[in-house]
Formats: sequence, C-alpha cells, structure tokens
Amino acid sequence: MAYENITVDRRGRVGLITLNRPKALNALNGALIDELNAVLDSFEADEEIGAVVITGNEKAFAAGADITEMRSMSFVDAHGSDFIAKWNRITAFRKPVVAAIAGYALGGGCELAMMCDIAIAGDNAKFGQPEIKLGVIPGAGGTQRLTRAVGKSKAMEMILTGRMMNAEEAERSGLVSRVVPVADVVDEAITVAERIAHFSAPTVALAKASVNRAFETTLAEGVLYERAVFYASFATEDKREGMDAFIEKREPAFTNR
Ligand code: HXC
Repeated sequence: MAYENITVDRRGRVGLITLNRPKALNALNGALIDELNAVLDSFEADEEIGAVVITGNEKAFAAGADITEMRSMSFVDAHGSDFIAKWNRITAFRKPVVAAIAGYALGGGCELAMMCDIAIAGDNAKFGQPEIKLGVIPGAGGTQRLTRAVGKSKAMEMILTGRMMNAEEAERSGLVSRVVPVADVVDEAITVAERIAHFSAPTVALAKASVNRAFETTLAEGVLYERAVFYASFATEDKREGMDAFIEKREPAFTNR
C-alpha cells in the first residue's frame, strides 16, 4: 500500500514508521492518523513483526495536530465527529512501540510520543503542550499522560504556560527513558526494538499489558493482575525453552509459542 503521510519499512522483526509531512513539521492530520492506524493493524497481525519504532525527522517528531484542519471546526463539528477518537488505536496496540524523538514533539506530537511504550530522545528534542496559546487544551491525553509522567507541578506549568521542555529536562523528569545524539536516535530505537523483538512475543505482550495495568488500577489489583499473567506465562513453550536454556548454559531459541 502506498502512503502519502508516512513511510513504512522493516528492519528484521522491527517495523519502522516514519511520519512524513516535513513541510508542515509532521503536523498530524486525519489522513496521517488513518495511515498510521492501517499500518498498526497490519503490524499487529504480522507474526514477523515483534516491535515497532515510530519516528519523524531531525527537525520534528510532530509539531502537533494539524492546525489548518482544526481552524474552521466548531464545537459541534469537533464533538460530533469525535475526530480524536481514532488517535487511540495505538494505545490498544499489543506489541511494544518505541518512539524515536528528534526536534519538536508538541501538542498532539507530544501526546503521540506519550502513547508509545518507550521514548528515546535525540539531544535536540523539545517537548511541549502549547495548546493554551491556541485557545484550546490538550485533547489526546496530554493532561493525563504528561501529569502521570512528570508530576502535577511540571505538567501544570507546561500545559498552562505552553513552555517547552528540552531533552535533558525530559529525561530528568521521566518523560523519556534516555537521550542520545540526534544522529543516533533512530538507530538506538531500532536497537532497543530489536532486542525486545528477539524475546518471546507472547511473553513480551503480557509484560507490556501488565505494566500498562499500573496506569489503570490500584496497586493491589495491579499486583493480582500481574500474578495471574505471570502464572499464565508458564503455559508457553518459550517459558520451558527460556528456563532450559538457562540451566543448560546456552542462548534460548524462542519460537513465540
Ligand atoms: C499545521 C503546522 C503546525 C501544526 C507547524 N506547521 N506546526 N501546520 N499544524 N501544528 C507548519 C507551519 O505553518 C509552517 O508552514 C511549517 O509547518 C513550518 O513551521 P514554522 O512555524 O515556519 O517553523 P518554525 O518557525 O521553525 O517554528 C516551529 C514551531 C512552530 C515552534 C514548532 O511551527 C509552531 O509553534 N507550531 C505549532 C505548534 C503547536 O501549537 N502545536 C499544537 C497544535 S494543537 P508554512 O506553510 O508556513 O511553511 C494540538 C492539539 C492536540 O496538537 C489535540 C489532540 C490531537
């Protein structure tokens, strides 16, 4: 399938999605989100894909939802079409997604990055929720995920003033897992994704689901969920292979079964 707003590539068991509207700093319009969702659907069904990397270019991961698309929308248009609903597809994606973020990750771009499972930033990355400057508020989870990631005071400051955070501050605040030279950010993200993808796919999916449970439930319920899923992982052939390989002092050969 030919895409107009993204490019799609494969690096072994890693699917690489590159946001590709450079003239608009990768502003996220409806067509781009449709394309992203279509690729996620196909990667979800593809047993050869074990993890996904999403990136932009050196200047912008994504500078937000497309303002030209939203400019003429009334409340009734926005509410009636619920145009943000389709942004949620990625949050239901069961394989790990690594965001490789260089340049601007603003508004919906920051929100998309926060929907990914691991964020690796280039040293020129800038994060922000500048919607307040446009007379609106974050609409794809920014008020919730940024607050969980960096705490109330910093989230409030960013959302209420529109201030951007640089890569170093983002790492210090827990918004990204690490910062690397911008030239290396995609390769680093692919390396992380490759490492994940060489483990047992069902076990990786269970681990991702269990971590995500931490955002949705109490500690006691989350620990119960984890324990049930931990026991469930004993049903895989890969559990036997992983433990046999350890005892036999060899590398495991996982079969995703
Ligand atoms: C549409 C955008 C855009 C956006 C940039 N462009 N961001 N178009 N939507 N979000 C376009 C510009 O209009 C311009 O087009 C081109 O990209 C280059 O941008 P410049 O502004 O000329 O670049 P620069 O001076 O380097 O400034 C970079 C910038 C600035 C600081 C990132 O572009 C900026 O402030 N962008 C808007 C950021 C923002 O407010 N994001 C939140 C959007 S609301 P032309 O044709 O003039 O060359 C949002 C709501 C989310 O995300 C809700 C849920 C989805």
